Amino acid sequence: MSAPGELRERLRATPAVAQLLPALEDLQPVYLVGGWVRVLLGFDDHRGPVDLAVEGDARAAARTLAARLGGESREYEQFGTATLTTPRLELDLTPTRRETYPEPGALPVVRPAPLTEDLARRDFTVNAMAVGLRGDDLGHLYDPLGGLADAAARLIRVMHPASFTDDPTRLLRAVRFETRLGFRMDEETERAAREAAETGAPATVSGPRIRDELIDLLSEVEAPAAIARLSELGIDRALHPAMRPDPELVASAALGAMAIEADRALAALAAVCAAAPLELDLWLAGLQLDARDRDVVSWAARMAQPLAAELRSRDHPPSELRALLARQPRESLALALAAGAPPEPILRWISDLSHVRLQISGADLLAEGVPEGPALGAALDATLDRKLDGLVSGREEELRTALELARGS
Ligand code: CTP
Repeated sequence: MSAPGELRERLRATPAVAQLLPALEDLQPVYLVGGWVRVLLGFDDHRGPVDLAVEGDARAAARTLAARLGGESREYEQFGTATLTTPRLELDLTPTRRETYPEPGALPVVRPAPLTEDLARRDFTVNAMAVGLRGDDLGHLYDPLGGLADAAARLIRVMHPASFTDDPTRLLRAVRFETRLGFRMDEETERAAREAAETGAPATVSGPRIRDELIDLLSEVEAPAAIARLSELGIDRALHPAMRPDPELVASAALGAMAIEADRALAALAAVCAAAPLELDLWLAGLQLDARDRDVVSWAARMAQPLAAELRSRDHPPSELRALLARQPRESLALALAAGAPPEPILRWISDLSHVRLQISGADLLAEGVPEGPALGAALDATLDRKLDGLVSGREEELRTALELARGS
């Protein structure tokens, strides 16, 4: 995967990391960890923030780097972490630490510790490697748990059998990394994952932590395969007994979302919930998505199938398409496509009909003496329907029609 010395060259040739190196020189020991190590070692093409582990005060390091590189650092009291955003780079800085879990699924209690202990508290061996970033240490690979050999064997392996019960979000991470990297859990890891799922480990984790990992999983190109794997391992049912996601529906919802520029992860989440939307609604609330996203997912999960059935049942004139589609979020339309709605009316609505406007407005009707009130809005609305159906064209005809409707003649 990489000969000694080669990593140093790769670090220098990786812009996201190389630009950092001069700024790190007289800092405390700093190591590259997380996704960018996988990239450097050639088994991932992750392009997220750069994760740095700092042996010492990570928040002070973030402040120093902010001064040197420009940009803004934010500090987090709870675990002594910090983020730094510069015009060209996003950094997450974490002090190297040891973790103990006071109870399964709870957030860990952390204490400062050297790098090797920090690597040992991580999720999988392939994520438990670090690369030195300073002086003679530049390009040195720290791999005390055999991550490189596991990556070569394409294995996801936990460090100890209680890993999934300590942190059940790792169930979702294991499946995400399996499908994204084309790796597989080793036998013991898979056994531990099945056991953790069977004994209901995910129920011990807060909704927002599940949400973050689930959204990451559903954002992956390989989300449908990951969904199939969650079912195979019983993780879906451990998240909620009614959860029976259909990987095909998730795949089609993701494709539909791309076709009509809907949010892929939300459309996929709606597809996950679509098999049992009523039973899963409270679980969905527990994820604490922001209010709009939650409404979109909940609505799409319930409404996409009936919408697809209605669109399939017959041809609808444009005014009826408006009534059916105007209030639907894009994710509902994506899921309706996935559920077998004919694409033509949906694409026609999005690309054409939804942009049609009247040339007149309420002010024109007021000027003609129509009083303010619901009748005025209803008249404009009905005129727009007629325009969509090709029954009215041009400003004059619009005005005449709207006035007739408003005056009830
Ligand atoms: N990590 C962990 N247990 C978790 C979450 C994260 O041990 N539940 C560790 C892993 O070593 C991981 C690193 O923290 O590599 C960074 O986490 P994160 O940024 O979530 O993941 P990445 O590996 O960077 O990959 P991605 O950004 O694709 O999620």
